[in-house]
Amino acid sequence: MIDDLWYKNGVFYCLSIGTYMDANGDGIGDFKGLLRRLDYLHGLGVTAIWLMPFQPSPGKDDGYDISDYYGVDPRYGTLGDFVEFTHGCQQRGIRVIVDLVVNHTSDAHPWFRDARSSPDSQHRDWYVWADKKPASASKGMVFPGVQKSTWTHDKEAKAWFFHRFYDFQPDLNTSNPYVQAEILKIMGFWIQLGVSGFRMDAVPFVISTKGAKVRTPVEQYDMLRSLREFLQWRQGNAIILAEANVLPETDMEYFGKDGDRMHMMFNFHVNQNLFYAMASADSRPLAKALKATKPRPASAQWGLFLRNHDELDLGRLSKAQRAVVFKNFGPDKNMQLYDRGIRRRLAPMLGGDRRRLELAYSLMCTLPGTPVIRYGDEIGMGDNLDLPERNCARTPMQWSTEPHAGFTESDKPCSPVIDEGPYGYEHINVAKQRRDPNSMLNWTERIIRMRKEVPEIGWGDFRVIATRDPAILAIRYDWRNNSVLFVHNLDEKPREASFSVGLAGDEGKHLINLLSEDHSEANDRGKHALMLEAYGYRWYRVGGLDYLLKRTDIDGVNANHPE
Ligand code: GLC
Ligand code: CA
Repeated sequence: MIDDLWYKNGVFYCLSIGTYMDANGDGIGDFKGLLRRLDYLHGLGVTAIWLMPFQPSPGKDDGYDISDYYGVDPRYGTLGDFVEFTHGCQQRGIRVIVDLVVNHTSDAHPWFRDARSSPDSQHRDWYVWADKKPASASKGMVFPGVQKSTWTHDKEAKAWFFHRFYDFQPDLNTSNPYVQAEILKIMGFWIQLGVSGFRMDAVPFVISTKGAKVRTPVEQYDMLRSLREFLQWRQGNAIILAEANVLPETDMEYFGKDGDRMHMMFNFHVNQNLFYAMASADSRPLAKALKATKPRPASAQWGLFLRNHDELDLGRLSKAQRAVVFKNFGPDKNMQLYDRGIRRRLAPMLGGDRRRLELAYSLMCTLPGTPVIRYGDEIGMGDNLDLPERNCARTPMQWSTEPHAGFTESDKPCSPVIDEGPYGYEHINVAKQRRDPNSMLNWTERIIRMRKEVPEIGWGDFRVIATRDPAILAIRYDWRNNSVLFVHNLDEKPREASFSVGLAGDEGKHLINLLSEDHSEANDRGKHALMLEAYGYRWYRVGGLDYLLKRTDIDGVNANHPE
């Protein structure tokens, strides 16, 4: 059954082990600490955890520089602790996906150390070398302003090596069949230890042709199919969630026309347009982005997110649009990064305005896809702009008013806890918000519950409903003879929204509000008129509360179905 696909309708939660909870008091979060927090995540209602890199690593890129793919960094615990963790998740019905960072290794990885030792070494061809400095060395940097080039000379190797990211992250030669076989082995290993899949790092670069002679890198999409095939043989319901910030034209190359490549992708295209919509109160480019990313195989799903551990990348907006987002959400140079994005957390970007935070979350939960929450955003955590680059938004989780926010008993947490200003842990923490019925945390928990009660978003087909007001975004989903409708007011002023639901028959006349008593009845001409407060949002079920009795086993069997 297609609705067996667990990732199509859930709520993902992304966290990094080192900043979550430290159980042994050395100032670094660990698996024992995380295990103790699983009931919190269970209570919040998330269905899957995306765990960021935790393998042995020199830690120069927050673990995205791995020096052993088959282990746990001793600072975080042991493989035994890891299995206790995946088991604990399984007990609570929570799935785990882990990062698969195979575009590059750390330069401390034994493979690279062997590779650089001699041109004849076993692993030489696992990396990408050149005798002379390639002409393209000053092109294609992912971290402009910080990263100087994509090729660096290695004294020991007496050759240049390619690195798409920082110079301590040599690219693996992913066209080498031995490297490809090793990647499958890595996947097989973690699958065996209880994970349900992978968030695959930097996918377009993994599948690109690499080398000194490559002028324009070409994506070898077929590689995606072999990854999936392997995974599916090992464990039928495991998934790959691809990090691929690509243009909508190539989405189907990643998903595969027959749904035979990536199960999920992050929707970066919608993400950027969503922030533009919130900054400009103009929903039109967002509606366009939703339509552009609509085509996908039935089994595929978008990961819908607001902020992640990286900068908010606005590189695909027009210059004018980007300027609007910068002006509203990150006006100071210090808030911006890599000439293309904003490095802040969500809450400070939105001025800590609860109405705007709810609007943002409501959108994330009701746009097509599976929402992916970043740890700490459920309590409205802030950032520390004194920390370099993306580290500003990677501070320890704020649990309580105990020292260091209850994150650690050490005097020296690996990253300083935010302890000043309105986002300091004295004000923003889980313990306090748990007790307050109106807190962001309790609101998030309720919205997650409601999101899980609306499978139409994950499974159904959607259309953007015309309202003639650019500040209003209305979307209807249809699935198995049921429809739901979501209306958002992006503006700081109240707006009146007028629209018809667009369904044949009487069905569209009644809109049952899922979050409050404020339902809507259509007028004689079948039109609804809503008064939406500033940044207001409405979640409606179309028809009546007997919807579950009406649900059919397959789509498109009832006359009331969309035109
Ligand atoms: C991805 C990660 C980012 C990391 C980079 C290199 O873009 O999201 O955090 O720095 O890959 O691995
Ligand atoms: Ca620790």
